[in-house]
Amino acid sequence: MKVKVIIPASGSGERFGSKIPKQFLKIEGKEIIALTLEKFNSIKLIDEIIISTKPEYFVRISTILKKYNLRKVSKIVEGGKRRQDSVYNALITSESEDDDMILVHDAVRPFISKKKIKELIITAMKYKCVIPGLPVAETVKIVDGKNYVTETIDRNNVRTIQTPQVFRFDILRKSFEKAYSEKFTGTDEAAIAENAGYKIKVIDGEKANVKITYREDVF
Ligand code: CTP
Ligand code: MG
Repeated sequence: MKVKVIIPASGSGERFGSKIPKQFLKIEGKEIIALTLEKFNSIKLIDEIIISTKPEYFVRISTILKKYNLRKVSKIVEGGKRRQDSVYNALITSESEDDDMILVHDAVRPFISKKKIKELIITAMKYKCVIPGLPVAETVKIVDGKNYVTETIDRNNVRTIQTPQVFRFDILRKSFEKAYSEKFTGTDEAAIAENAGYKIKVIDGEKANVKITYREDVF
């Protein structure tokens, strides 16, 4: 059994709105994607890292890999139109075995702790599909297309979901194949596995593990 990490980094950061895509911006002198990769690269349990990105970013990423000596990165593959397509391309080029563990983590979540990554991997050995989630403090309502409230849901049963999301390779591959055959789009891997009928275990996420989406998330 191997433990592999897929880092989707093919987005252009529309909502962030910077000239350089947000994964290449620096926080205290270091590129966001480098901060993210360093966390995974330094964990013993992890064998390999695959990055999915736009061909126009290949050189930029190769330079970062050399600069920070990120030796566990084995491949840089081409991303796709949706995040899902970027992840799938990395998955099918990963040459994995059925019982390998696959972590999928956004390039733009550099603040995840190594402790949490290890906890997710260890928990996935038992549950096969594990994701981190946080409870919500505010009241959650469903609205219709005209912004009228249709329902208030019990927030005790709500979690906001983060990455890394961890799955056995065979489960993730079968789930993606089903999604493609049905033209199903999932905004995270768990949604794709849920659609294929798999049970997903949620463990506590981390407040600091934000996905950098808007400028206010970092600067
Ligand atoms: N991503 C990807 N392929 C895509 C879209 C997104 O690999 N087609 C990656 C992003 O690079 C990022 C992660 O998925 O690391 C989470 O996506 P998001 O925060 O939405 O980033 P962007 O798509 O770049 O931002 P935006 O949606 O604002 O354009
Ligand atoms: Mg996006």
